[in-house]
Amino acid sequence: MSSAEKIEDIAKRKGFFWPSSEIYGGMSGFYDYGHLGALMKRKWENLWRSYFLSLDDNFYEISPATIMPEGVFVASGHLKSFVDPVVKCKKCGHMERADHILEEELKENFEGVSSEELEKLIKQHGIKCSKCKGPLEEVGTLNMMFPLNVGTTKVTKAYLVPETAQEAFVNFKRQFEVLRKQLPLGLAVVGKAYRNEISPRNLLLRMREFTQAELQIFFDHDNVGEHEEFDEIKDYKLCLFPAANKQTGKVEEVSCWAIIEKMDLPKFYVYHLAKIQQFYLDILKIPKEKFRLRELSEEERAFYNKIHWDIEVELNDLGFKEVGGCHYRTDHDLSGHQKISKQDMTVNIEGKEILAHVLELSFGVDRNIYALLDIAYAEEKERTVLRFPFGAAPYDAAILPLVNKEGMPGLAGKIKDVLKAKGFTVFYDYSGSIGRRYRRMDEIGTPFCITVDTDSLSSKDVTIRDRDSMKQIRVGIEHLPMVLEQLITYRIEFTEAE
Ligand code: GAP
Repeated sequence: MSSAEKIEDIAKRKGFFWPSSEIYGGMSGFYDYGHLGALMKRKWENLWRSYFLSLDDNFYEISPATIMPEGVFVASGHLKSFVDPVVKCKKCGHMERADHILEEELKENFEGVSSEELEKLIKQHGIKCSKCKGPLEEVGTLNMMFPLNVGTTKVTKAYLVPETAQEAFVNFKRQFEVLRKQLPLGLAVVGKAYRNEISPRNLLLRMREFTQAELQIFFDHDNVGEHEEFDEIKDYKLCLFPAANKQTGKVEEVSCWAIIEKMDLPKFYVYHLAKIQQFYLDILKIPKEKFRLRELSEEERAFYNKIHWDIEVELNDLGFKEVGGCHYRTDHDLSGHQKISKQDMTVNIEGKEILAHVLELSFGVDRNIYALLDIAYAEEKERTVLRFPFGAAPYDAAILPLVNKEGMPGLAGKIKDVLKAKGFTVFYDYSGSIGRRYRRMDEIGTPFCITVDTDSLSSKDVTIRDRDSMKQIRVGIEHLPMVLEQLITYRIEFTEAE
């Protein structure tokens, strides 16, 4: 089985995710999260919130609507430019993304390449329809937004949001006024985005409805060369894959300070790139060699970006895949909204009129969940195990009475209630041999199993088993919440928790 097939299998069998409306045959590009997937998604989103919202006291989360009127997308440029290059088969009418059809054939990434160039390559390599091998029409474009008519008598033309970003932009001025009237101001949205992808594929990697976690940082453009906390990360090395290294594939480790000196990147941008890398390496525990920041060339960049580096994680079989991006959007969006809405989007700070620039930290939640599953999956001699980072595992711990009698279930139930009340996600399992229950928990990535045995009743202590090393320690019941917190949040060594 390919790694994608293994993930699909475990996802369906255990309850992470599966095709949406499955009983009606499903719909391409739509997935539902089951009980484990929903828990994990919430954990990921909360890790993201607590990390990125802590970067500055003036960063906040908002929760806007996901249907917006057409004017928003005239202003943002999505109506005109949010298009994918497509080719249609002359024989069977099948439509495909022109860059994807080339990628399949030539095993290279053609994302962002112009329609003219794609057309040339398709002709040059004699590419045919992937379904019927028929000849292809010329490369055209298709807008990816989902249109809607809102209302009954007076109809308003609207769209499902293709990115959460616009939700923050239209709210910027009001948020600025009701807050402390300071820049930088960060507005975060964790919410749905919708794109009518021509070829949804690779499970959660390319969907038509997906979740984004985006932070829009509004700042004074005159300060782009500064960041108050830059000294904290100046010697920290980033794993960079500059556009110039496309042929060699070489990733360079460069200190933030050297990046400022040698590359044309502003401090404000580099500081946030460093924080993104630290989130991936320190919080999500992505191995360093599977992580890189990829610079997009001018042709590849999204139409709204002046500087654009993608966050990429290496997946089994699929190679490096984008899971997020760090986008310097300048005043592209606010000036667009100012023009189309005819509302003044400038703010006044100490007498200075500013049309704020935006740095966007953008992440696809589903792609990140997929990446964690892909990296965590391991088949060992006697078990399949998902080695999730502790903070992102669906359950923090399982509570297992050794046998389902002799007072053990009662004590185990009490422990479960205490841990739940303290905010831990716990699973209670009393059926089957203890060995089988450990295996079941390994397979869904539960970091710790707490076993209540006969001694627990008299000595008031329990065994904690570590998922990764399978080692066990004995811990007093009254210390359990503290020990779990130290293991999960502060990541103390397992054997030191005893
Ligand atoms: N606001 C900027 C923006 O939307 P993007 O690169 O188009 O930028 C951001 O999307 C992130 O959203 C991507 O890095 C990816 O993780 C996720 N994403 C984009 N399209 C997706 C899709 N069709 N399915 C799943 N995730 C997607």
